[in-house]
Amino acid sequence: MGTVISIVSGKGGVGKTTLCANLAFALALEGHSVIALDGDMGLKNLDILLGLESKASFDLLDILEERCPIGQAVVVHDALPNLHMISGSEDYTASVDKRAMRRLCRWLADHYEYVLIDAPAGVGEGFRNAVFSAQRCIVVSTPDLTSVRDAGRTASIIAGMCSVPCELVINKVRKQMMKKGYMRNVDQVMDSVSLPLLGLVPHDDEVVISSNRGIILPQTKSNTATAFKNIARRLQGEDVQLAGFWRK
Ligand SMILES: Nc1ncnc2c1ncn2[C@@H]1O[C@H](COP(=O)(O)OP(=O)(O)OP(=O)(O)O)[C@@H](O)[C@H]1O
Ligand SMILES: [Mg+2]
Repeated sequence: MGTVISIVSGKGGVGKTTLCANLAFALALEGHSVIALDGDMGLKNLDILLGLESKASFDLLDILEERCPIGQAVVVHDALPNLHMISGSEDYTASVDKRAMRRLCRWLADHYEYVLIDAPAGVGEGFRNAVFSAQRCIVVSTPDLTSVRDAGRTASIIAGMCSVPCELVINKVRKQMMKKGYMRNVDQVMDSVSLPLLGLVPHDDEVVISSNRGIILPQTKSNTATAFKNIARRLQGEDVQLAGFWRK
């Protein structure tokens, strides 16, 4: 039985889709069977970051509204055959039946080791469906005060909804700016969000370049690639030190 993990944030643009794609790559590179679902109805992006743009004929909504069997909406990655994706719908008006979404995720968890859901920003229906379907949540925040506050609020909302365990990933970390006190440091972010830390990812142009070029970042040896791989290893229960960029 696999695990359904939803990646949420509250504030938009903090790196949920980036984390979802890179975790999917990192887990698949280790040989795990992974499926990533784009839960961002109307504003899908995950297909681009996974290098699977325009490859899906059917999407998540087609499955949930029974317009196609599950298999027809599953896209297989060319380079990593154990990495699959279900694309998001472009229909931003659609309302998703949360029980159908949860049934689908449980079915997928019987067939994959990891089911990753890329949730939309905010705390609306898409967010609630992602949390309702999850066995584990990752809350993503940057060190910016606005993002930190929203992440803390999101964590409280999740705690009020269900007892799903949540962990924190701090993305776009700029160590020098933190040291100078220009942005919240890691301890301050953790205190404000009140969640255990799953990992740190540096602010790095390489993330932007790899996203735009469809490069599988965890295949490289950079600090940022290591940060994503370490998060993937911690997800599997390994005790991994914080990435080198942070300790140096
Ligand atoms: N560690 C990072 N370093 C530099 N840029 C990053 C990093 N992580 C994400 N980005 C950039 O930030 C932007 C937003 O990232 P992404 O789309 O993953 O955020 P999101 O939380 O999924 O956004 P939305 O809420 O709109 O779904 C993208 O341009 C992405 O390349
Ligand atoms: Mg996104």
